Amino acid sequence: MKNMFFIALLLVQYACNVKLSDVHTLSSPDNSIDVTIELKEGELFYSVNKNNIQIISPSKLGLVTNAFSFNSDISLLSVKRKKSRSSWTQVWGEQEIVDDHHNEIFLQFASTDRRKTGVRFKAFDDGIGFRYEIRKGSLPDYEIMDELTEFNLSEDSPSWWIPAYAYRRYEFLYANTLISEISRDTYSELIENLSGPRIGPEAVQTPFTIERKDGIVLSIHEANLTDYSSMTLKANGTQNLESDLVPWSNGVKVYVDSDLQTPWRTIMIADKASDLPLSTLTLNLNEPNRLKNTEWIKPGKYIGLWWEMIGTNQSTWGSGPNHGAKTDKVKEYIDFGSKYGFDGVLVEGWNLGWDENWCCTGDGEEFSFYKSHPEFNSEEINAYAKLKNIRLVGHHETGSQISNYESQLEQAFQYCKSNGIRVVKTGYVNDGSQNIKRLGKDGKVYREWHHGQFMVEHFRKVLETAARYQVGLVVHEPIKDTGLRRTFPNMLSREGAKGQEFNGFMSTKDNNKPNHTTILPFTRLLSSPMDYTPGIFKLTNYRYFAPDNRTVNPNHRIPSTIAKELALYVVIYAPVQMAADLPTHYEGHPGFQFILDVPTDWSKTKVLNGEIGKFITVVRKDRSSSDWFLGSITNEKDRTVNVSLSFLDKNQNYKAIIYTDPEDGGWLKNPEKLVIKETNVTYVDELDINLAPGGGQAIHFKTIK
Ligand code: NOJ
Ligand code: CA
Repeated sequence: MKNMFFIALLLVQYACNVKLSDVHTLSSPDNSIDVTIELKEGELFYSVNKNNIQIISPSKLGLVTNAFSFNSDISLLSVKRKKSRSSWTQVWGEQEIVDDHHNEIFLQFASTDRRKTGVRFKAFDDGIGFRYEIRKGSLPDYEIMDELTEFNLSEDSPSWWIPAYAYRRYEFLYANTLISEISRDTYSELIENLSGPRIGPEAVQTPFTIERKDGIVLSIHEANLTDYSSMTLKANGTQNLESDLVPWSNGVKVYVDSDLQTPWRTIMIADKASDLPLSTLTLNLNEPNRLKNTEWIKPGKYIGLWWEMIGTNQSTWGSGPNHGAKTDKVKEYIDFGSKYGFDGVLVEGWNLGWDENWCCTGDGEEFSFYKSHPEFNSEEINAYAKLKNIRLVGHHETGSQISNYESQLEQAFQYCKSNGIRVVKTGYVNDGSQNIKRLGKDGKVYREWHHGQFMVEHFRKVLETAARYQVGLVVHEPIKDTGLRRTFPNMLSREGAKGQEFNGFMSTKDNNKPNHTTILPFTRLLSSPMDYTPGIFKLTNYRYFAPDNRTVNPNHRIPSTIAKELALYVVIYAPVQMAADLPTHYEGHPGFQFILDVPTDWSKTKVLNGEIGKFITVVRKDRSSSDWFLGSITNEKDRTVNVSLSFLDKNQNYKAIIYTDPEDGGWLKNPEKLVIKETNVTYVDELDINLAPGGGQAIHFKTIK
């Protein structure tokens, strides 16, 4: 007994004296992904392998602050590991159950000023995430001046990107170049001339997607962007990228006043492009739902008094003979929406402020978010909507007048609650990249970036206020999504990319191209649902020169077909989807039935095939029935994709209602010609999906006896 005690004592002593290894590895549950974390001469690096191929070569980790160093002279104090296998249920989403299977390692370091610094890595089968964790305790507040995280790709691969620090936020078409070719000049040459001052570094927004020559695809993004600044990726003419935090106007990147857990830096990794959109990495790296009651959050579809301003150009947001949001007209929209069972009617231009110079300097502080325009009889309209069993979708265009909006938040959302409004579309139109007006404590005006910590905090404040009043948000000109919908399921949808609106107001030369929607599922849509606003049926000759010049402007053509517009309801996920066209363009149209039938809440999603920028086929199963829906879209090239229907429920017969382009169809020829066919199928069948140039196909697999 005495001997045993002695041996145990020796073992404890040995454990205390042994130097912790400088190299630590972490593998995903299926062992396909390995992360190596290494301390080399006091500096910290990580690298990533997929299928034993190094995809991220040693890349530096670290932060530069004004208070302490977490950059060099790092020494390891302890290492902890954890294994986690669980699953959770989404309030709404692309799939009901999400598996969260990962392995975890936490490395704690000695720090120069008593702060406890650490790095946590999690490895999932669909990628990795890591974050910095810094315990501040009672030590003073500090400022992060730089984050040094690198993403050194082991190959200079083709990538899909939009520029950061550019005047139109995320509303750009994607460039497809080698990583080493990323620059504003390249973008101006290939896609569009970047106007506006060239301030800020050469950088791209995330999700940033790469397809290696061996077929492995990865996308760099972040998860749970809270109390921090958003991360862009700085390019330097090589295949190496460095995290670049969007700064405050004084150059500080992040103000820290409490214990810090940075957003997760994420790398989604898949064997092939069509596996990427199914990644649940971002959601799994967010906190569980914080809203106790979610009964009031209802996915659904809405129509709106919107396209007639932004698309057909027959109405205006502001006062005048063509003001759209007039009581009688709104009631007609309510009638139409109610007749067809829509959940909501969006009305833009309903409030006061559109007549002022609201856009885009932050100075026209006249918007009211609870006082309506005299021509919009709020009481009458809201009573009528109630009678017709439909809800208004509110609209808060802030023009990026942040202090004006924040000063009215409580009244604005109280107005919603009092009037049965459960969804609000917000907007942050602002020309110029660093142009968000902020009034400093010193009384001076500062101009902030759209994506820095100031705006991250603003967007969170609005989201939390909306939740208190039981309102869900659809944010236009948002901060990018990093999976917050898991924690706040009232974070319904966002724009945050070049959406359908550009097909409205831009001429054919400058609008979205047919391949744009075949890139989105592998880039922007990896981050969250999108309010793309699909469903335009009148694709040519739809736009007038001006509201008071009702001559059709022939220079506008939507680069799509009706079949593709329908397919987008399946390809682009959003819990609230808009039927964006005018009621008169839908009434009596046989294709409208698909919009009425397609759900926005799913129990399962599968991507049957897809190549970035070329085509994609997505199938989803309705969360409240056994019906399945398919959406397939192509770029400017026609193609046929063969799909097995093995995803359908076994022992179940289906009628496939197929909405397709005609043989002589396509975005340039007969885009508005739609063919509807029916055939009975089961899970043993296969279908050839014919896609016309710039077209698509939508199928409703309806259960039959
Ligand atoms: C831009 C938004 O994306 C669009 O949907 C909205 O109609 C206008 N701003 C006006 O708020
Ligand atoms: Ca927009």
